[in-house]
Amino acid sequence: MNRSNVLVSLDIGTSKVKVIIGEVTNDGLNVIGVGTAESNGMKKGAIVDIDQTVHSIQNAIEQAERMIDMEIKNVIVSINGSHVHLQSCHGVVAVSSETREIGDEDIRRVIDASQVISIPPEREIVDVYPQQFVVDGQDEINDPRGMIGVRLEMHGLLVTCGKTNLHNILKCVERAGLEVEDICLQPLAAGEVALSKDEKNLGVALVNIGAGSTTVSVFVEGQMIDTLVVPLGGDNITKDLSIGLKTTIEEAENVKKDYGHAYVPEAQKDVTFSVTTIGSNEKKEFDQVLISEIIEARLAEIFDFVRKEIRRMGLLELPGGYVMTGGVVNMPGVTELARDIFRTNVRTSFPTYIGVREPQFTVGLGTLQFAHQNAKIQGKVFQEGIGKLNQAEPVPSMENREKPRREQKAKPKKEDKEPILKKLQNYFFD
Ligand SMILES: Nc1ncnc2c1ncn2[C@@H]1O[C@H](COP(=O)(O)OP(=O)(O)OP(=O)(O)O)[C@@H](O)[C@H]1O
Ligand SMILES: [Mg+2]
Repeated sequence: MNRSNVLVSLDIGTSKVKVIIGEVTNDGLNVIGVGTAESNGMKKGAIVDIDQTVHSIQNAIEQAERMIDMEIKNVIVSINGSHVHLQSCHGVVAVSSETREIGDEDIRRVIDASQVISIPPEREIVDVYPQQFVVDGQDEINDPRGMIGVRLEMHGLLVTCGKTNLHNILKCVERAGLEVEDICLQPLAAGEVALSKDEKNLGVALVNIGAGSTTVSVFVEGQMIDTLVVPLGGDNITKDLSIGLKTTIEEAENVKKDYGHAYVPEAQKDVTFSVTTIGSNEKKEFDQVLISEIIEARLAEIFDFVRKEIRRMGLLELPGGYVMTGGVVNMPGVTELARDIFRTNVRTSFPTYIGVREPQFTVGLGTLQFAHQNAKIQGKVFQEGIGKLNQAEPVPSMENREKPRREQKAKPKKEDKEPILKKLQNYFFD
């Protein structure tokens, strides 16, 4: 069966909130809407101001809604790795039906069984991602539905998140008038679109350089084995430039995007620009070589952290090399610098979908694909992410934008289809 599902992903980043509406089938993805908005309530990948974050989410959602002229109701939220802990889990059940044919119910039970595990009180289980099923001793089964067996086992990845962080994310999405359809781990999502099967099998590191954080995740033998976050990113480069050029953060950000180069040997002396010095009206001229020295120093520091962390994971060699993605990768020279530092094969990953060809959309696109895949394995059915606009409701005036129409709406209660997510929402909101 090749059912299509319109899903909406929500990536609440430090610099931008990104919304992607996509029609997902087993064969691929068709992007039908995108929305991005400045993110004002985030620092280093974590929410620091709920009101501001809600407002940013609403702006991005409304922009995407305008593209398709429909209302977004349900979203799949991606969470970054900074407060996330991964552990392997294992569940065993006896196949329940008399015919011994494995069905949805057995899969649900084995996934539930794998969560009977003690976790610290300040943490909450977000989801379980099945990695392989074992039927009567036969392993490496992706989907055991329809097979015959007596004993069903599942080996998976259990994801837990700090309660406070998860609460903040869910609260913001809820207050923006949206239902959380699923929660997806960003590194797993990004791996879905940025990495090839071969790379994941050989052993590869995926490095997502965002504004407030850099996320490293390592895949070996087809599975993600670890992820961690270095709290440094594009914002630090901007700050360094603003100090070095004695200019405002805003101007430094523009200079970085328009003239930035991450690799000094390839930067050009004859690419020049002028910026206003802070505290005066004077403009001063600089060239690309000077700013690339500042940028390269900061990125090299970030890459050094990445290399050390990978060593600490006990991995001395990654035959699949390094794959770089995230907004900062838009800057020329990142790959060259990374090759110098990591001394192995490095490539960048730019999504190939029309309208979202920039590396900051890797997570959002991957969220749609990963959630679809994972739902299929777990036997979950997603509600459509979008619905018709409610014509009866008045469109808010400009001065009333603080409280858009979606905020006053009563949300329909969903049926209990996803035990973990439901438990989480009950825990925090009921
Ligand atoms: N052309 C460009 N040159 C240099 N940097 C760029 C360019 N385009 C975007 N960036 C930088 O990329 C960063 C944003 O990337 P991204 O959208 O992936 O981050 P985020 O998801 O908002 O943050 P995080 O993942 O850390 O929470 C910003 O620091 C921005 O300045
Ligand atoms: Mg991000």
